[in-house]
Amino acid sequence: MKIAFVGAGMIGAGLAVNAALKGHQVSLYDVAPPETVQGTVRGILDSLTEAGAVDAPAASAALAGMSFTQDLAQAVTGARLVQECVPERLELKQATYRSIQELVGAEPVIASSTSGMFPSALAEGALYPERILVGHPYNPSYLLPLVEVCGPRASQDSIDTAMEVYRAMGKEPVLCRKEVHGFLVNKLSWAVMDGAIQAVADGVCSVEDIDKAIMFGPGLRMAVTGQLLTMSLGVPGGFRMMGKKYGNEEEDSGKTAVIQRIADGVDEEIACRPAEFGNTVEGVSKFRDRAFVEILKLHHKI
Ligand SMILES: NC(=O)c1ccc[n+]([C@@H]2O[C@H](COP(=O)([O-])OP(=O)(O)OC[C@H]3O[C@@H](n4cnc5c(N)ncnc54)[C@H](O)[C@@H]3O)[C@@H](O)[C@H]2O)c1
Repeated sequence: MKIAFVGAGMIGAGLAVNAALKGHQVSLYDVAPPETVQGTVRGILDSLTEAGAVDAPAASAALAGMSFTQDLAQAVTGARLVQECVPERLELKQATYRSIQELVGAEPVIASSTSGMFPSALAEGALYPERILVGHPYNPSYLLPLVEVCGPRASQDSIDTAMEVYRAMGKEPVLCRKEVHGFLVNKLSWAVMDGAIQAVADGVCSVEDIDKAIMFGPGLRMAVTGQLLTMSLGVPGGFRMMGKKYGNEEEDSGKTAVIQRIADGVDEEIACRPAEFGNTVEGVSKFRDRAFVEILKLHHKI
């Protein structure tokens, strides 16, 4: 499958490397000279090789499968998905979509890497707005699998195609059904950031202790079992028993409906996990412990 990357800086080049490593036909378009983009890509492949994620022959094969161009038509023709990774300026992004859709019509889905713009704003004035959505990656994009897909006004086919292409690139797409600031996870990151700034400002702790506290506590858990599954594992019986265990049943009563939804969702999440990652509470706990040991070895804590 052909996947095009328009704007090949930090984010675009990283995602393009993912796609090339999975054997897809990859084109990178940038206003910068192709040699500059090639240099960025080589740097990413070197980092991945050094970190042990790929070996040298795989890195060379990925590079050989990529084409670098300053010709937009050449880059996007035949692409199933065009990942737009140009700088965070609305007019520039909209003008880029117009140029692409004038060249290749409604054929490719166009996904924007934007961290903060709503898909409806990006698609305003487009020739085929239903083909435009957000596909928000996380830095470093060549390693973090997360891509948040958001396009409440995009067609179902556009959403399905984006999810399918990201999976085929080895990414882990999640669907953000509504246009909310920060999509799914930046909102959570901002909450943690606010708390960290406040703690330092109030002299509660040192900068280092805030980072240590997260790295060796909740951050470690979240890295392995997210937020809701983590909390559920902490109480026998999961979310349904949380109010009972912590003695705030009355306080919880207003939240009963959402707690029920979370409890059902966690049950489903556990049941749908591949067996090797644990698909029972006991199995997930064992997987979690193994994962902790691996991470803690890297920190020389074990
Ligand atoms: N850096 C991050 O941590 C991060 C994380 C998630 C999402 N994003 C989003 O990804 C997008 C790209 O960010 P980045 O960090 O890769 O920026 P960057 O500056 O590293 O790369 C932008 C690239 O776009 C190129 N460019 C500029 N004008 C262009 C044009 N008209 N046509 C084609 N290419 C053009 C530049 O030459 C450059 O190579 C932004 O929307 C940003 O908000 C960034």
